[in-house]
Formats: sequence, C-alpha cells, structure tokens
Amino acid sequence: MMNEIIISPSILSADFTEFGSAAQEIETSGAPWLHMDVMDGSFVPNLTFGSSLIRDIRKKTKVFLDVHLMIVQPGRYIRKFADAGADGITFHYEAEVHSQKYLAEIRGLGLKAGIAIVPSTPVSILEEVLPFVDLVLIMTVNPGFGGQTLIPECLEKVKKLVEIRQKSGLDFNISVDGGINETTAQKAKEAGANILVVGSAFFDCEDKKSLITKLKAC
Ligand code: DX5
Ligand code: ZN
Repeated sequence: MMNEIIISPSILSADFTEFGSAAQEIETSGAPWLHMDVMDGSFVPNLTFGSSLIRDIRKKTKVFLDVHLMIVQPGRYIRKFADAGADGITFHYEAEVHSQKYLAEIRGLGLKAGIAIVPSTPVSILEEVLPFVDLVLIMTVNPGFGGQTLIPECLEKVKKLVEIRQKSGLDFNISVDGGINETTAQKAKEAGANILVVGSAFFDCEDKKSLITKLKAC
C-alpha cells in the first residue's frame, strides 16, 4: 500500500494574533492540509481554540482543514466542527467511549474520520474501530504543546499499525504528530506514516515552500 505523502502544518505554532496570515502562509507553501489543535485544558494540560476559529479560517483558505480534537467526550462537538467547515475530524480513542458511533457520524457528514492515540496507548486497542477510519493519528509526543522532541518508540507503533493494516486488508492513512522535522520526517515515513503534522519546524522555517518539498521528498 502506498498512500500519498501529505504535509499538514499545525497552526498551533503560529502567532495567535495572526491566524489569518498563518493560514495563507500554509496555503502558499504548497501544503495541502492545515492542522488545527483543539485543546480543552482537561484531556490535555493546555487550552487553545474552538469551532469559531475553524469557521474563520475556513473563509481564508481552501486547503483541507485537518481538525485534531484533544478534548473529553469529543462526540458532543462533532456537529459543531463539521458545521464550522472542518474537512476531517480526528479525536482521541482515550477520550470517547463510543468511538465507533462518532467515527460513523463524521463519515456520515461527508468528512474524513480519524482516531488518535497518545504514546502510552497501544495500537492493538484500535482493532475494532479500524474499519471505520480514514486515518489513524499516532501521537509522537504527549499531546498538549508544540515544540517537543519526538519519542522514537512511537515510530515502532507506526510499524505495528502498518502490519495490522496489511493483515486486515483495510485502507487508511497513518498520521504522525509531534516533533516532526526534516530528520524525524524521514524516519516516520520509513516506519510507514504518510501524513506528517508539522508545527514548530514549519513556523520556525524561513523558506516554507522548500521545507514542504523537502519533507515530502526526504
Ligand atoms: C501537540 C499537537 C501538535 C503540535 C505539533 O499536542 O497535537 O499538532 O502542533 O507541534 P510540533 O510539530 O512543534 O511538535
Ligand atoms: Zn495535533
């Protein structure tokens, strides 16, 4: 299986007073996706933004809005984020008892459905929900903040997930999120990830266009 390599810059690392221009920077860099980290201060020890920012960013860009919900009981908010203009919604397995129900709801709304797991959650636990997902997001840091260092063991989970995907004959994308830069992107792709979420490495970089090209190619 060869899924297309997709770079999804995370707006979390942008200047919070400049979200509109950050969205435009992401679009002009050539990145096809834009990652939005919604945090509730409960599931993760940080607070960010809600669906109104997604609604406003939707007006600024046509790129795929890749919404990552780091909130408890995310099922309560699926409809709100879909209405705001998300193209894909990914929520945490650890935060929702009724994952299958809400993955089906996301797909039913015509969006891409994703399930995410933190570093301490094994990929094997996802077996029953894999038929209902378009992507699995493997957190490669503990969620909550940008700018952390990738935990190498998490890439072993990516390899295990690739094996599970092969055995099951299912077709889903594998996303990695946290500590992705030119060096770790290469390792993540070798492990089998095809969606790379990039926060600080993107916003710290001057030449964003060539970074996107390099991340895709390296
Ligand atoms: C962290 C978020 C990430 C974050 C990644 O909890 O889920 O999407 O923006 O940022 P970097 O690339 O700086 O680790
Ligand atoms: Zn994220």
